[in-house]
Amino acid sequence: MRINAAMNLSSTLWRILIVLLCFSIKLCSSQMNLLGFLTVKPAKLFLIGSNLTVYCHTNKCEKGFKLSLEVNGETVTSSKEINCTAIFNLINFRTPSSSVICMLKGPDSSKIVDGGDLKGGLPPDKPENIICETTRSSDNIICSWEKGQKTHVNTTYNISLNRENGTRIELYQIQDDKQRGRPNPLTISRAVIEENIKYQLIITAYNPFGESQSDPFIFCLKDLVIPETPRIVNIEFGNNSQAAVLRWETSDSSEHLRSDVWLRTDKASSWTVAEGADLNESQIRVSGLRPLTDYEFQMRTYMPHNNTPRSNCSKWSASVRGRSPGKGPSQQLHVWRTFVSPGSNVTVLWKPPSPEDYSGVVQQYKMFLGNEQKQEVLYGPASSSVPVPAEIKAISISAITSYGTSPQADVPLKHSGGFGPVLRKLAPADSSSAVLASWTWTDDKHWSTSGGEPLHYVVQWTTVPGAEMKWQRVSKDQNNTLITGLRAGVRYNVSLYAVTSRGVSAPSSRLVYSKEQKPVSGPNLSVLVHEARRVHIQWDELPVDQQRGFITHYTVYLQTLDSSNTKLSVTVSGSGPRILWLDCPEGTLAVQLSASTSAGEGQPGKRIFSQPESPAVVLVIGIVFVITLFLAIVANLMCWSCVRKRIKQKCISWGPAWLDENLPKLGNSNAIRLLKVMNSLLPLFV
Ligand SMILES: *[C@@H]1O[C@H](CO)[C@@H](O)[C@H](O)[C@H]1NC(C)=O
Ligand SMILES: *[C@@H]1O[C@H](CO)[C@@H](O)[C@H](O)[C@H]1NC(C)=O
Ligand SMILES: *[C@@H]1O[C@H](CO)[C@@H](O)[C@H](O)[C@H]1NC(C)=O
Ligand SMILES: *[C@@H]1O[C@H](CO)[C@@H](O)[C@H](O)[C@H]1NC(C)=O
Ligand SMILES: *[C@@H]1O[C@H](CO)[C@@H](O)[C@H](O)[C@H]1NC(C)=O
Ligand SMILES: *[C@@H]1O[C@H](CO)[C@@H](O)[C@H](O)[C@H]1NC(C)=O
Ligand SMILES: *[C@@H]1O[C@H](CO)[C@@H](O)[C@H](O)[C@H]1NC(C)=O
Ligand SMILES: *[C@@H]1O[C@H](CO)[C@@H](O)[C@H](O)[C@H]1NC(C)=O
Ligand SMILES: *[C@@H]1O[C@H](CO)[C@@H](O)[C@H](O)[C@H]1NC(C)=O
Ligand SMILES: *[C@@H]1O[C@H](CO)[C@@H](O)[C@H](O)[C@H]1NC(C)=O
Ligand SMILES: *[C@@H]1O[C@H](CO)[C@@H](O)[C@H](O)[C@H]1NC(C)=O
Ligand SMILES: *[C@@H]1O[C@H](CO)[C@@H](O)[C@H](O)[C@H]1NC(C)=O
Repeated sequence: MRINAAMNLSSTLWRILIVLLCFSIKLCSSQMNLLGFLTVKPAKLFLIGSNLTVYCHTNKCEKGFKLSLEVNGETVTSSKEINCTAIFNLINFRTPSSSVICMLKGPDSSKIVDGGDLKGGLPPDKPENIICETTRSSDNIICSWEKGQKTHVNTTYNISLNRENGTRIELYQIQDDKQRGRPNPLTISRAVIEENIKYQLIITAYNPFGESQSDPFIFCLKDLVIPETPRIVNIEFGNNSQAAVLRWETSDSSEHLRSDVWLRTDKASSWTVAEGADLNESQIRVSGLRPLTDYEFQMRTYMPHNNTPRSNCSKWSASVRGRSPGKGPSQQLHVWRTFVSPGSNVTVLWKPPSPEDYSGVVQQYKMFLGNEQKQEVLYGPASSSVPVPAEIKAISISAITSYGTSPQADVPLKHSGGFGPVLRKLAPADSSSAVLASWTWTDDKHWSTSGGEPLHYVVQWTTVPGAEMKWQRVSKDQNNTLITGLRAGVRYNVSLYAVTSRGVSAPSSRLVYSKEQKPVSGPNLSVLVHEARRVHIQWDELPVDQQRGFITHYTVYLQTLDSSNTKLSVTVSGSGPRILWLDCPEGTLAVQLSASTSAGEGQPGKRIFSQPESPAVVLVIGIVFVITLFLAIVANLMCWSCVRKRIKQKCISWGPAWLDENLPKLGNSNAIRLLKVMNSLLPLFV
């Protein structure tokens, strides 16, 4: 049959066509009138790695046609072509299984000449690690061995069971056509074996490429006896589904059998030896399990030997499957509280249980209020804080999950009265959102000064200003913790508490920024007095949310508005008073102030314009002040009835000279005091 196909068809399409048209090359050759034939030297069954020569002969050499060979779809070109026969060399050919097709290719069409299959193989390796086993009750001995590398061809094993002197008792034959590591095991009937006599087993493996003989395996029946295969009769999951107890049985009468368990979680995975502990002769505990997992268990027994603990093991038992149940939380919740002020209502806070500690979901939180007659209140799974009236003196909380309830955690409400540790300087961590808090106890005794049994620390942090509060429980063995989730440019008040069975210590607090930023703006500024060459200024503290860092210093900028346009700047410490006398140039000034943090200087605040007060203005103010004062005194004296008249007379009679005269002794009177004030003030203006 001819296949005429365009040369530009892809090779895949080409092969599909061949397959479709000739179901096999054999079929083609037997039923079709072929154009020629193909031969392989040394043979189509070859030793892997040999050099093969393929000859393709066509009956008729047509002009313009060329013979070519496709090996597994790849084209090989001929080395020689004589008298219508092309020769192809396949050097060091290693493909165990391949098909070859010889084709006659013309400019527009190709024709199949012949084809065939090539089969490569290797001689068998020496059979190794022969193991023969039986149990006390078994009628057979089962022997197996390792065959070594894959031969790719069927291999036969001749197994000779001999007496020790070499006389053959039986010859067994096993065909191995499998690709697996071990050939099918050999079954020897116990009937042919006598006790207390030594035997030898010799295995000869052979295939077309060669043969290989094992070392003799010498044995005595009693050496082959292993414990009976046990049977798992029951699995019971316990200990919050982290462990299971396997009950097993065996027909073995031997005492002191120990057992091993292996397990896998799905069929595809490999077996892993489980952490196990024998409870007694019929029970083993397997630990390290996970909740809500499907397990498959197998076990075996063994006779413990002093040095080689697993030498005489039974076969693995049949599998037993079981699903571990879910696990309820075993740890108490982390709880905390805040008060607005001492004695006020309490806000109770808690954290959800750690996901590793339970399976399923949190359904609710249950709060127990009061000491004896406990009142129980339920909260939804999303709650994490609730207010509680101040009268309640005992509060505890537990989480209810789908698989159980956590132990109750008591909220520490009282003050321990003891000493707590002291926070050290808080160090911003590498990221701009975290701070490392560490603490020391003032003496070496640590918790002993805190009063009560040590429980843990609580680190709490609040934004300043504002009431955004977060907290975290820290183990009593730690002396530092990383506070994360902070925002740059926000001031936090970090407080540390030591919690003991007696209550909560007084806090140790520090202010911190995870990362300082430049202030948002400059402080508001006012000019109090502006003299000719001095100016007295005062400014407000920046609101904390505008500081965005600790203010290190302020910078005052002065600028004259006249033609000289003199500019001056003065730096003032951030912690000093916010009021200042500054020397300045004469004339109208523009004053501005900026604040700086360690991150840099912020935007300056509003510009203030200020003119020095002129001396004339000062004089006018002075005169107005004196006149006002004088009128006030006069009015005051008029009202004082006893002396009013005399004063009036004296003023008239003394005239301007009244100032030099001593006034009558009138004791500690208003008039005397007022006159004394006038006496001291008048020279200033006259
Ligand atoms: C196969 O041919 C190569 C090159 O011609 C040669 O080096 C090699 O020895 C040959 N192998 C065998 C097994 O004859
Ligand atoms: C090729 O054919 C010619 C004549 O038909 C013959 O003389 C020659 O020996 C052949 N060559 C081979 C290598 O068979
Ligand atoms: C290899 O063994 C299989 C199964 O026993 C058999 O079908 C096949 O024909 C054998 N192959 C050879 C080359 O003997
Ligand atoms: C294997 O045993 C058979 C007889 O069962 C025998 O014909 C054959 O020669 C033996 N082969 C080898 C390699 O011993
Ligand atoms: C090997 O031992 C068996 C029995 O012990 C005996 O019958 C046989 O003759 C002995 N063969 C040789 C070669 O000694
Ligand atoms: C293995 O254990 C069995 C008991 O189950 C014992 O009879 C046999 O001798 C032991 N085999 C070896 C090799 O220790
Ligand atoms: C339960 O499991 C935990 C963790 O695996 C273990 O520490 C504890 O001892 C176990 N308890 C019992 C009674 O086995
Ligand atoms: C093994 O222990 C379990 C309980 O721990 C007990 O019920 C059982 O009877 C014991 N079995 C043997 C053989 O001692
Ligand atoms: C404390 O709680 C009670 C009841 O929950 C409420 O009536 C009272 O106003 C609260 N007091 C304060 C100061 O919030
Ligand atoms: C924290 O504890 C470690 C050892 O536990 C110690 O080396 C370190 O000095 C302690 N740091 C402080 C701040 O006390
Ligand atoms: C920081 O928090 C502590 C404890 O709540 C409080 O006593 C202290 O006044 C706070 N400091 C500032 C500056 O807010
Ligand atoms: C400055 O004063 C104005 C008006 O009194 C006020 O709105 C503004 O917040 C103040 N700015 C600063 C930084 O204090």
